Amino acid sequence: MLVCKNLKKIFVEGNESICILDDINFNISKGETVSIIGSSGSGKSTLLHVLSSLEKADSGEILLDDSLITSLTENELCAIRLNKIGFIYQFHHLIKELNVKENIALPLIIKGEDVDDIESKTNDIIDQVGLSERKNYQIDKLSGGERQRVAIARAVVHKPKIIFADEPTGNLDKVNANNIFSLLKDLVNYNQSSLIMATHDLDIAVLLDKKYSIQNGDLIKIKD
Ligand SMILES: Nc1ncnc2c1ncn2[C@@H]1O[C@H](COP(=O)(O)OP(=O)(O)OP(=O)(O)O)[C@@H](O)[C@H]1O
Ligand SMILES: [Mg+2]
Repeated sequence: MLVCKNLKKIFVEGNESICILDDINFNISKGETVSIIGSSGSGKSTLLHVLSSLEKADSGEILLDDSLITSLTENELCAIRLNKIGFIYQFHHLIKELNVKENIALPLIIKGEDVDDIESKTNDIIDQVGLSERKNYQIDKLSGGERQRVAIARAVVHKPKIIFADEPTGNLDKVNANNIFSLLKDLVNYNQSSLIMATHDLDIAVLLDKKYSIQNGDLIKIKD
């Protein structure tokens, strides 16, 4: 589903340059789930952003479902993101001017899907994430767990082939974190998507098929 070869990402701050991803090789197959752990600042978000084409790599290749995304134009990347990728951001990135339903429908609206399809797909996913009673709420009226459900619903509404989840259970208590993780896992199974999830929660990290750690720019496999 996704293969990356010799991936490098360097950040330059002033006259210092830091190699956050140093020659990373990685692959994930269809339907597989992978967790990425690592201390704060180790590069988990950076890896997810680069693999999902939100940020450019400095060198290396990323092949997503037969498209060499490291050599595509911005327009081509937009189409890939809308059709194949779901992203759950570390800090939600929900649009507070829109209500729950509108936030969730956004990828389908941008894709230009038929109005009736948008309505039925959005309502289905709202039911699946348990937000039927909240669909007309503004985002700032929701609890942290509810916002995370909206973010998950928005990331899966278009049935992407691969989902990137950046600490989807961060900032939640243990019970809510476990609930949100099982919800995400169920949706991933249901759609047969692949999942790459960054997390600090080691109890959750072991529940995925494979586990990696980022340390000093290296991606190290911990569990197969
Ligand atoms: N745009 C940028 N410019 C310069 N440095 C950056 C930029 N983005 C990230 N960094 C640096 O890269 C390092 C890795 O950041 P990243 O956000 O990937 O870490 P993380 O593992 O996700 O951390 P956390 O667990 O706190 O979310 C950090 O030291 C950060 O300061
Ligand atoms: Mg992060």
